[in-house]
Amino acid sequence: MTRVLVTGGNGQVGRAFAKLIPAAVVLDRRALDIADTGAVYRAFEEHRPEVVYNTAAYTAVDRAEAEPEQARLINVDAVVNLANAARDNDCLLVQYSSDYVFRGDAGPYTELDRTLPASVYGRTKLQSEVAARASGNRYLIIRTSWVFGDGHNFVKSIVGAAARHPELTVVDDQRGRPTYAPDLAEGSAALVAAGCSGVYNLSGGGEPGTWADVAEAAIQAAGLTARVRRVTTAQYYAGKQGPVAPRPANSELDCSKAGEAGVNLRPWRAAVAEYVKELTQS
Ligand SMILES: NC(=O)c1ccc[n+]([C@@H]2O[C@H](COP(=O)([O-])OP(=O)(O)OC[C@H]3O[C@@H](n4cnc5c(N)ncnc54)[C@H](OP(=O)(O)O)[C@@H]3O)[C@@H](O)[C@H]2O)c1
Repeated sequence: MTRVLVTGGNGQVGRAFAKLIPAAVVLDRRALDIADTGAVYRAFEEHRPEVVYNTAAYTAVDRAEAEPEQARLINVDAVVNLANAARDNDCLLVQYSSDYVFRGDAGPYTELDRTLPASVYGRTKLQSEVAARASGNRYLIIRTSWVFGDGHNFVKSIVGAAARHPELTVVDDQRGRPTYAPDLAEGSAALVAAGCSGVYNLSGGGEPGTWADVAEAAIQAAGLTARVRRVTTAQYYAGKQGPVAPRPANSELDCSKAGEAGVNLRPWRAAVAEYVKELTQS
């Protein structure tokens, strides 16, 4: 059996891997801080992984605008550690990247389209791709979008808010495709099994939607009646405190390259329905 190590084990995708591959070594931040070079090498020595899924990341998109060094440390410098250790141990590094590497004015985006991140987070994720392939190691970079699963995410927040309020105000001018963490983990493992390397887009299937569309789908799946008031990003953030990162207006990922490798994630609406059912039953 392939020896698998998963970093960021307490995150949405990390938890999905723990369920998908029970034999995998799944380490949360306390067990392995990927920014700690010595700890990374010790983990490779101890567990001898053949594949590392690096799901650990700095994912606070707005906060990153105020603390770019911290975002860079985890999303870039730490990935250099993993790439070096992967090279020295003949291990495949699977690195997650984001739709936010694109500017968002020309989607859907293929793997070959020009990247031009608008935010600190997006820039660090693009640099994470460079870091993941810079050491001469074997690598697979998976760009995904709008992830929801076991953890904090938009779908869960909406279901909670819809249970308390008759109307929710939701952004309606950002377009993309939500991705269910368990589907992403399964699709990632399938790309690895198919021997894929390089860069792949992998997001939920179906027609893209806006955050307002996702909210309506989640509310409906929960059997709630809250209305969605559709607003622009500018209207939503007017008067809000704290840093706000610019986000792409259209970050739809074209996933046909993964499709050609036999990997297609189910339509996001079906995944939202399943996730919300689990949420409301637990
Ligand atoms: N979420 C999205 O919408 C989205 C969209 C596109 C791409 N992605 C990418 O997909 C990947 C997985 O995302 P996710 O949604 O699973 O993120 P997540 O739920 O925020 O989980 C990230 C995990 O990384 C851990 N972490 C942070 N710094 C670390 C460090 N120095 N060492 C070890 N672990 C550390 C965090 O630990 P703590 O729990 O201790 O904070 C957290 O558990 C990331 O690369 C992300 O950039 C996510």
